[in-house]
Amino acid sequence: MDSVSGASGVDPSLVSSTVADLPGPARIERADEVAKRLGVDPSSLALLASNENPLGPSERAVEAARHALVSGHRYPDPWCRRLVRAVAAHHRVSPEQVVVGNGSSEIIEVLVRTFVGPGQTVVSGWPSFAAYRISAQIEGREFLSAPLRRGRLDLAGIAALVDRRAKLVFLSNPNNPTGTYVRLRELAAFMNRVPPETIVVVDEAYADYVEASDYPQAIEDLLPAHPRLVVLRTFSKAYGLAGYRVGYGVMAPNLVRAIHLVRPVFSVSTIAEKAALAALEDTEHLDRSRRLVSRERAKLLEGLRNLGLVPYPSQANFVYVGDLPVDMPNYLENRGILVRGLSSYGLQDAIRISVGSPEAIRKCLDTISNRLKAGEGCSDGRDNIPVASE
Ligand SMILES: Cc1ncc(COP(=O)(O)O)c(C=O)c1O
Repeated sequence: MDSVSGASGVDPSLVSSTVADLPGPARIERADEVAKRLGVDPSSLALLASNENPLGPSERAVEAARHALVSGHRYPDPWCRRLVRAVAAHHRVSPEQVVVGNGSSEIIEVLVRTFVGPGQTVVSGWPSFAAYRISAQIEGREFLSAPLRRGRLDLAGIAALVDRRAKLVFLSNPNNPTGTYVRLRELAAFMNRVPPETIVVVDEAYADYVEASDYPQAIEDLLPAHPRLVVLRTFSKAYGLAGYRVGYGVMAPNLVRAIHLVRPVFSVSTIAEKAALAALEDTEHLDRSRRLVSRERAKLLEGLRNLGLVPYPSQANFVYVGDLPVDMPNYLENRGILVRGLSSYGLQDAIRISVGSPEAIRKCLDTISNRLKAGEGCSDGRDNIPVASE
């Protein structure tokens, strides 16, 4: 039997020294497991933990995927050329500027692997999307982060960490898990401040939900003037294709060429590529997703404020709220509502609530209200058992 230790439960003598302390995916409890534990039907759960689209995928995407199943004996196009051309046309850039991946998560990993050498650093804000830190750790690269200021990325703090060793900067805009954004003016000033050899990655996973008029659409607004800028987008959120795994990056052609040296060749299946192509054309579904999030986000923010809480203003399909009893994630989960606890960021009293269906949002607000009314030490014993929190 292996000796097991470290946060992950993996034998440290078995793996490379950077790996044993990684959190790993096992910490995320699946909805079907929660439903089984609670003895309820999985469809009765309010799934507000993963920023997914409550409308599901576009019917046209599902139909295209179904169609692609019969050619499943053939390898996919390693370059995803049809999707690359469609994405390029969508953003009015050249196909040489686009790379498609198995979710934008894969592109994040590949960016670190491709561009950050020994002794070089990865820089970001904190708390922000955990994959930036984890990807750096997997590659054995140092990760430096500047704390957020009032829930927003502190671009001055991040710029102060960008020295000659800094190769890659990740800016989640809007920022996960706070939902806040940096303005065009601020981002443009940042781009002019960092050294030209540093690659700045603006991760726009939630861009489709933004309504603020001073939000930078980095592909249009900044890419033409900045050859070391990378912009990431995903089909997982507003397009509702999280389970299909498709994301993309837009950048200068020489960066795309470098990424192709490293990225896994067949990581995007034909089924996923066809679904994404159809989803891109289904602008009605996208508009419905946006309208739903806009409406329910406003209700969620207002409902939380009416409970005396102070959520961060959000431009994404989730809302961050702190100053809660520490058992709140468990309390909600035990009542069939899955939100993201943020204890893995050291934030014991904060949660991130995805903007879901009207029923899910109402149920979530009512249950938070019940817990707050009950005051200190109200919880039944079950609520002290920690739940997944990455
Ligand atoms: C900021 C951010 N970037 C990227 C991703 C990754 O998305 P995917 O790999 O599904 O494209 C997420 C997912 O939650 C995210 O929050």
